Formats: sequence, C-alpha cells, structure tokens
Amino acid sequence: MSTDPVSTPLPAGIEINSVTGAVHPATGHYVKRLSELRALFQDKDAFDIAVQERDDPVTYEVVEYRPDRSDLFFGTTTMYPGHVGGEFYMTRGHFHERRDMGEVYYTQSGLGILLLESRDGISRIIEMKPGVCAFIPPDWAHRSVNTGSEPLVFVWVCNPNAGHDYGDILKRGMRKRIIKTKDGFNIIDNITYA
Ligand code: F6R
Ligand code: ZN
Repeated sequence: MSTDPVSTPLPAGIEINSVTGAVHPATGHYVKRLSELRALFQDKDAFDIAVQERDDPVTYEVVEYRPDRSDLFFGTTTMYPGHVGGEFYMTRGHFHERRDMGEVYYTQSGLGILLLESRDGISRIIEMKPGVCAFIPPDWAHRSVNTGSEPLVFVWVCNPNAGHDYGDILKRGMRKRIIKTKDGFNIIDNITYA
C-alpha cells in the first residue's frame, strides 16, 4: 500500500475541547434546534410551549473532522441541558445504513444516558460520564440523552460510509424514555412505541 498523499490521507492531530466540544480544524458542523425535534417528545403541549418560551434553543450540535479517503472519521456532539415536560433533551437517534458498522462514543464532560436498541427490540443503556467509552455494536440504534445540568460532550468515531437511518426510530420511537426525577432520572417504557 502506498503512502502517496493523493491516495491515502496523512496523519493529523485534531484539537478537541472537552468542555465546549469545539473541534479544530473541523470539516463540518450543524446545529439542531428544539423545534426540529417535535416527534421525539411525548408531551406535545409542553413541547410547543417550551419552543416558544425558550425561543427555540439549540438542543445539540455536531462538529466533525472527516479526512478524505479515510475509513474513519470522528467529531463531537455537544448536547445542552434541558427537558420537555420532564423528558430530557435527546438526539434523534438512528441505526446506521450500513448494518455491519458500529461506533464508539467517548464522553468528555457532562452526564447522560446512551440508549441502545437492537433490531429485535432489546434495550440497553450505558451511563455517559467523563472517561466512559461506549461501544455501539453494528445494527444497534443509538440515542444520547443529557440527564445532567451541564452540557454533555462526547467524541464519536465511526466509518464515514456508515450513514444514518433515522426513519425507523422517527416512525416508531424507542422502547424507553428517560424522565427527570427529583434527584436524577428514571427509565420508563414508552407508551407510544409503535
Ligand atoms: C454518527 C453518530 C453521532 C450522531 C450525533 C447526533 O453516527 O452517531 O455523530 O449523529 O450524536 O445524533 P443524531 O444523528 O441521532 O441526531
Ligand atoms: Zn451513529
């Protein structure tokens, strides 16, 4: 195999800020505002009020570093704290289009829950806290939830061909919901799971 820079990427050291999730240099960035996530939350009335009263806040943002012609790319997701009617802010959640490709989530700061679900409906959770590196096996849906009062920042590493399949989770939801309690969170069954 040649190390010709035309056919293979060169080594690079990328700075990641573990508190803000900033990635430098970065090749891409997007934000998700609360109004884009209505389908996720159970209490639609509380949702509509929250969007209006909070001025449609950024709920999470994703920054990536994607080298050309590489079998790996990585980046950060920064999730802001908050809840809608007691249900913590969460990501959309997805399977990968490529069913043979998993992912790694390494939490840098904040507290959360990684909600995982296999195709045949097995649920698993992994606590997200600084120092925990979560292995997401191929073909497990994954959604992260910020259960803390600070931003939840994690680094993810994946194959750039993995792709996102949002359809199934959007249509039927996930089997579990993560609800705020007086001193933490509770995992409950999703009564609207289709
Ligand atoms: C990529 C991956 C993460 C998420 C990000 C936002 O495979 O798992 O980069 O894409 O945390 O979550 P979603 O994409 O579910 O809105
Ligand atoms: Zn993923």
